[in-house]
Amino acid sequence: MQKLDKIYEGKAKILYTTEDPASLIQYFKDDATAFNAQKRGTIAEKGIMNNGIASKIFEHLKAKGIETHFVQWLNDREMLVKRVEIVPLEVIVRNRAAGSLCRLLGLAEGANLSCPTLEFCYKNDALGDPQVNEYHIRALNFATDDEVKKITALAFKINEVLKKFFLDLKIELIDFKIEFGRINNHIILADEISPDTCRLWEVGTGNKLDKDRFRRDLGNIEEAYQEVLRRVTQ
Ligand SMILES: Nc1ncnc2c1ncn2[C@@H]1O[C@H](COP(=O)(O)OP(=O)(O)OP(=O)(O)O)[C@@H](O)[C@H]1O
Ligand SMILES: [Mg+2]
Repeated sequence: MQKLDKIYEGKAKILYTTEDPASLIQYFKDDATAFNAQKRGTIAEKGIMNNGIASKIFEHLKAKGIETHFVQWLNDREMLVKRVEIVPLEVIVRNRAAGSLCRLLGLAEGANLSCPTLEFCYKNDALGDPQVNEYHIRALNFATDDEVKKITALAFKINEVLKKFFLDLKIELIDFKIEFGRINNHIILADEISPDTCRLWEVGTGNKLDKDRFRRDLGNIEEAYQEVLRRVTQ
């Protein structure tokens, strides 16, 4: 599949059209950003590792009956995906408190949650992806009520599948961010799932195997991503 026009360049990926109008090539870059892009850097070979990790995760989700935009891994940095209309929401699922939830509610990092939680943020970099609720989503037509219901159910199902997937690899899934898209009048999972978009803690040691190493300058960033890739492809 040939890359034609670049249609979007984001912070971590580039999307290209292909000869097939229904398909895009998603190219993974090494660029890393944090804190609403106030912190910028690169993580060597991150694009290769995230493309590999996301491909494996999408394949696993498909095997568990969850439809995604993933078509196939093409090469080190590229995957073929179905073109969707992105729902302008970041959907965050949490199994334990970390990051912004700790700041919001004054919780210790890793604090227990008695059940998984879900948050919606409006995808808007200029506003810093502000949190919104179902009333905002309805009033501003970000998604229909039916779509919100489907996205919610899918997000919790993806959480259950991925919690088990990672636990089998001796990794605890603390939280993650996903995006959904519209295609032929239904909703499917799009974008990526990788250490850029999840918090992943090694079982036993509590070692962070995700972008928090970059956010907080913890060192051994490449090694952490490599370790996740090694485990998901083992
Ligand atoms: N299948 C798809 N079809 C169309 N757009 C997609 C698809 N999958 C992901 N996208 C969009 O492609 C872009 C991927 O680039 P990247 O993740 O680098 O963006 P970003 O810098 O995080 O910015 P954004 O706030 O737009 O997500 C995102 O805007 C994402 O919503
Ligand atoms: Mg993104």
